[in-house]
Amino acid sequence: MVHGAVLNPAVARKSENLAGTIRIPGDKSISHRSFMLGGLASGQTRISGLLEGEDVLATGRAMQAMGAHVRKEGDTWIIDGVGNGLLLEPEAPLDFGNAGTGVRLTMGLVGTYGFEATFTGDASLSSRPMGRVLDPLRLMGVQVTAAEGDRLPVTLRGPDIAVPITYRVPMASAQVKSAVLLAGLNTPGTTTVVEPVMTRDHTEKMLTGFGADLSVETDADGVRTIALQGQGKLNGQEIDVPGDPSSTAFPLIAALLVPGSRVTIENVLMNPTRTGLITTLLEMGADIAIENRRLAGGEDVADLVVSASDLRGVTVPPERAPSMIDEYPALAIAAAFAEGETVMEGLEELRVKESDRLSAVAAGLKINGVDCEEGKASLTVRGVPGGKGLGSVSPTVAVETHLDHRIAMSFLIMGLAAERPVRVDDSAIIVTSFPEFMDMMAGLGADISAERKAA
Ligand code: S3P
Repeated sequence: MVHGAVLNPAVARKSENLAGTIRIPGDKSISHRSFMLGGLASGQTRISGLLEGEDVLATGRAMQAMGAHVRKEGDTWIIDGVGNGLLLEPEAPLDFGNAGTGVRLTMGLVGTYGFEATFTGDASLSSRPMGRVLDPLRLMGVQVTAAEGDRLPVTLRGPDIAVPITYRVPMASAQVKSAVLLAGLNTPGTTTVVEPVMTRDHTEKMLTGFGADLSVETDADGVRTIALQGQGKLNGQEIDVPGDPSSTAFPLIAALLVPGSRVTIENVLMNPTRTGLITTLLEMGADIAIENRRLAGGEDVADLVVSASDLRGVTVPPERAPSMIDEYPALAIAAAFAEGETVMEGLEELRVKESDRLSAVAAGLKINGVDCEEGKASLTVRGVPGGKGLGSVSPTVAVETHLDHRIAMSFLIMGLAAERPVRVDDSAIIVTSFPEFMDMMAGLGADISAERKAA
C-alpha cells in the first residue's frame, strides 16, 4: 500500500563522486498512452520499456476492467485491444491512485460511451481539479456527477451519440488536450482542439501511429489546431518507450551538484516539448554532453554525459514552462546551489500538481536554509554554491511531501550536496513514477537511506 497508509521517511546525506551509467525507466506520459491506445486498438500492441510505476499500472488495470487483455511476457507487455468504440462498462469504480494523467485521459477516453464509469483516487488526486476535463466532456453531451468543486469521485455517463466540439484549451495542459482528443475517438465527425501554447505532443504522435486520421496545423503565432476524425479504426502497434526526461532530472541534477561526479544517463527522450530543463541547465553552465542522438520508436532520444558543474542563476522565461512543467522542483534544488539568483516565472500550473508544488518547494527550501521567495506564479531562489549551511537543522525537521513523488525525490537530491542531511517525511510515494529511484541512486554512490515508520 503506497497511498498514504504508511509513510516511509528518508534521509539523504552529503555524498561524493557519483559515478556510473544508468538507464532511466520508461516515460510516464508515453507509458500511460501505450496502455490506453493499446487497450483500445484492434489487434495486439507490444510494449517494451514500459514504466512499471504505480500510476501506469493503474491505467493498465483500468483498461483491463473495460475489456482489454493485458499480460507480460519477459520484458514485453502484450495487450489485446477491444477495438475503437468497443470498450466495456467497468463493473467497479476505476481507482487511479495518485495518477492525474491516468484519470484525466481515461475520463476522456470513456466519457463519450453510453454507460456509467466511476473514477476514484488517493487523497492527493481527490483534491485536484477535474473541471478542466469535465467541462469539454459536458459540451460533448456527457452527464457528470462529481464531488464539490468538480473533484473525485466522478461518475460519467455518455450520451447515445456524442457531439463533436471545437475546444480551445484554456490553460497550458497536455492532459486537457489529450482528454478531448481521446473523447473524439468515440464521437462522429471532427473533434478539434485549439492549443494556444504547445504542450507535450505524445497523444497526437501516438494517435497517428495507431492509424487515427489526425491533422495538426500551426499558425504564425504558434497556435496549433488539431483535428481528429472520430470513429476510425485503430490498429495495435509495437512501442518502444524511451527513458523519462522527468525522472532523468533527479540523477542529472544530483550529478551536477555532487562534487567530482560523472554519470551517463542512457536513452533519454529528447522530444523538444520535454527538454526545457536541459536548456535551462545548459544556460546555468551545466556540463551536459548530449551524445548518440538517434530515433527510437518515432521519438528523438540521446545519452547524457553529466559532470559536476558550478552553476549560476538564470531567469527562466514563462513560455518555457510547458516544456519543463514537472521539472521545477528539481530545478529549484539546482538553483539552491547556483551562484546568484534564479527566477522562475509562469508557474501557475504548479499549484495543481500532485501537491501545490510552488508552496511545497518553497517550504522545503526554507526549512533547509535556502533563501527563496514564493510569488503567486513565480519562485525566486538565491543559491549557496557548495551548499554551506544548507540542510536540516535538526533530525526532527523533515520536508512535507504531501503525497508528491517529485517533492520527495527533489529534496533527497538536495541532501546529497548540502552540508547537513536533508530529510523527507515520505519516500514510499516515489513508486508512483520511479520505483527504481532508491536503488539507482545508491548504485551511483548516493547516500540515501529510508527507515520504515508507522504514520
Ligand atoms: C502530462 C501532462 C502534464 C504533466 C503530467 C503529465 C501528460 O500535466 O504535468 O505529469 O502526460 O499529458 P498537465 O497537462 O496538467 O500540464
